[in-house]
Amino acid sequence: MAARRRVGRGVRREGVLPTASMYQVPRPKSVESLSQAAMRLFEHNRQRGVDQRIGLPYDYSCPSRRIYPYQWLWDSCFHAIVLARLAPGLAATELTTLLSMVQPNGFLPHVIFWAGPRQHHAWPLLLGLPGFRARFSAQTQPPMVAVAVERYLGATGDYPVLNSWLPAIMRYYDWLSQRDWDGDGLLTIVQPFESGLDASPQYDRSLGLARFSPGAHLVRSFYSTARYSAMAWEAPRIERSTGFNVEDLLFNSVYAYNLRALQRLCVATGGDGGRFARRADETERALVSKCFDDGEGYFTSLFGGQEERARALTVASLMPLLARDLPKAMAGSIAALIEAPKHFNRRYPLPSVAASEPSYAPGASIFLWRGPTWLSTNWLVYQGLRQHGYFELASHIADRTAALVLKSGFREYYNPETGEGHGAELFGWSTLAIDLLRSEQAGR
Ligand code: GLC
Repeated sequence: MAARRRVGRGVRREGVLPTASMYQVPRPKSVESLSQAAMRLFEHNRQRGVDQRIGLPYDYSCPSRRIYPYQWLWDSCFHAIVLARLAPGLAATELTTLLSMVQPNGFLPHVIFWAGPRQHHAWPLLLGLPGFRARFSAQTQPPMVAVAVERYLGATGDYPVLNSWLPAIMRYYDWLSQRDWDGDGLLTIVQPFESGLDASPQYDRSLGLARFSPGAHLVRSFYSTARYSAMAWEAPRIERSTGFNVEDLLFNSVYAYNLRALQRLCVATGGDGGRFARRADETERALVSKCFDDGEGYFTSLFGGQEERARALTVASLMPLLARDLPKAMAGSIAALIEAPKHFNRRYPLPSVAASEPSYAPGASIFLWRGPTWLSTNWLVYQGLRQHGYFELASHIADRTAALVLKSGFREYYNPETGEGHGAELFGWSTLAIDLLRSEQAGR
């Protein structure tokens, strides 16, 4: 508790804008070599064929052949964002494959086991559907689809394909809105994997762990999966149960950001998309009015029926920058956290947990998101910083992200202190460094 209070006071004291001298980092001279390496990676990770069980073709890039050989929802969106710049045809097949799995009720799974089990038989079993023959997992993941589609459209102007995708995209975002169980504008996630930030310490208390312990963490995180599987993942039953139930900062910030993109996509095809804009307004208002902790001075996720605060300063606390209408003072307090060396401004930012947290663990671990730097979250924060006019700070994040990839290659995650790469190799979304560099080259 004492440590937390220190964080809160520190946050307010350090509310200064960055100075140019803080960011004197040499930039890579060209992104060409990175782009060529990325294209080799996407070729290597490409999975193509026909799923004979359902007669559907697939063509996508898996996150990494060895550890993640299937299609992951938000990974695919990030792949499409990079591919939209490097090889738009592949971005289109990636998105077409993903959208072909939007179910009639609008559900889009977080992992799709195209062509059935491969060498990693544990995934289908672990992810909540009965047996090894599951076609997809029963959970979803941060809804990055509309932004990825908008990026593709921006690169290609391919309106005919947008027209063919839009019904599935709208069905999917309509389905998501049903996760707003208490009608406050914030969606609920029902399993830590749905956040994309698996073992983030912000979920320790929601998993009933007063103190982190590896064994208990594993048991608890799969307990809710097993429990909800026993309920056949039926929303009303899950809603009434007292399992994992989090109004998650990253999930909701990404949702609002994507709803705005979806509204623009609707307008681009002659529709109006008003309902998506209204939902974005509601979600942003709820983030601002319910999730900012005045005492600590940062945003938190909310968990359980009583909406308790998930008090750990993590990269998720930076995500409300994605909210277009975030009040200036709140954007300023997030920027202050990013530029503070004791919180997020480490040698290779942004650590997934602030260095000031007792749980901060910057090295390799099977418990993901408890300290290391990841490129998906760097990319999101970069967008948010630019949206609120923090261009220099955004450039700093882009430069340091590129430095990571130049030092250690496209790894799954990195040590924020040393830049050492860990986890999967040839990891797809780490190519996002290229998108950041290209955005920097394009200017404001
Ligand atoms: C890990 C990450 C998750 C990602 C998946 C595939 O589970 O936590 O966000 O989608 O790997 O890369």
